[in-house]
Amino acid sequence: MAKEHSIEPAAFAPILADLGLDPQTLPQIDPSTFAEAKGSIGRGRGDVFLGPIGTGLDIPAASALYKKHVDPVLGPANAMVLYFKSPRVDAELARWRNHLWPWLHVVGLYRIQGGAIRRESFGGAESLPGKAERDGFVLVAKRREHVMSPTSTTAKFDANAGGWNPQPGNPGYAHYRWMRRYVGRFAKVEDGARVLDFGSGAGWVGIEAALQAKDVELCAFDPSPEMTRFAAENARAAGVAKFTARVGFGEHPPFPAAGERTFDVVFSSGVVSFSPDIEQWCDGLVSTLHSGSTLVIGDIQRESAGMQKRRANRILLPARELNAQTPAEVRARLERRGLLHEATAGYQLTDPIPQLTHHADKKLGGVLSPVLLALNRAAAGSSLAPSRFDSWVMRFKKR
Ligand SMILES: C[S@@+](CC[C@H](N)C(=O)[O-])C[C@H]1O[C@@H](n2cnc3c(N)ncnc32)[C@H](O)[C@@H]1O
Repeated sequence: MAKEHSIEPAAFAPILADLGLDPQTLPQIDPSTFAEAKGSIGRGRGDVFLGPIGTGLDIPAASALYKKHVDPVLGPANAMVLYFKSPRVDAELARWRNHLWPWLHVVGLYRIQGGAIRRESFGGAESLPGKAERDGFVLVAKRREHVMSPTSTTAKFDANAGGWNPQPGNPGYAHYRWMRRYVGRFAKVEDGARVLDFGSGAGWVGIEAALQAKDVELCAFDPSPEMTRFAAENARAAGVAKFTARVGFGEHPPFPAAGERTFDVVFSSGVVSFSPDIEQWCDGLVSTLHSGSTLVIGDIQRESAGMQKRRANRILLPARELNAQTPAEVRARLERRGLLHEATAGYQLTDPIPQLTHHADKKLGGVLSPVLLALNRAAAGSSLAPSRFDSWVMRFKKR
């Protein structure tokens, strides 16, 4: 039997084929040799197979060592394939994922038992044909900059734009619309105001805001052309007469273009956690405001009980959950840019409400969904501890 440290990528041929990688050319790095290695391991830049990785390691120290040695040889858009040789609980692999961040983000997982392979991805789980020669786990990780790059973001939201634009009758529709209304009404909009939806998705936050008053001029942008198309359709159907959509990123917002006015009220809901460069994104956000403008910004609450539990136990998590800022961090960034904080609220209750809502929508035909929504509406903005909410929203005034 081959010695553990001489494991070859070819032992995982079906997995590598699934990833489009060639086991013959994929360099293998044995992490047990790092202690002797001086500096980088000196190969070309590309994909890397790293393993075997045992149990009982000091995960923060080992992740830092991997970064030191593998970073110089991992290409910008390439994958590090990590082989974990012995059985372990998901929480241990979740810890690896947490410590590889923000260098790398885990984008895929294969579980191998008796040679049979089960692939887990953000799209779901399924068995792979073929057998691996070793049992254990294979994680696939890519650079944060790649996972969160403008190209990846546009492709991701274009591909799933329909999923972010639910229709009446879809499970969760009432809840989805209520959350957008809550954020869209977190600031008062005056008649004739110029309003911007910064990272609009399907546009509902801006639309709800615009519907508060008469003759509002609503502008919206999003990196995904498909999302802006949905936003335009939804604005038209909702009766927002003055609507302009553009494609662009918050780090370099496409509004206001040269010669255009800044905005009276700006909304950004659920966007900042997608930014690869939050400082630049905040600069972009503040550049759309003038003195006296109102800003409403909301996002997921990374310190909620539910989000903490997900980080501790789940191996695959969307990058935004690791990238998310706390409201205090966002507030500090905006105050440094001359904004005055006016209000903060939590609005989406945390664990177990989202799971119950999902279950009620998908499995119980929605019968309990109105009760859960009523619970959320009653709790939104209350004095419950911030850790009880999965989402926050804040309002600021520009000096
Ligand atoms: C969770 S959705 C929220 C959409 C909408 N604001 C809402 O509340 O329904 C996140 C949106 O942010 C957009 N986005 C991602 N990265 C962005 C960036 N750097 N700047 C602006 N928008 C971005 C995505 O394309 C997506 O439509």
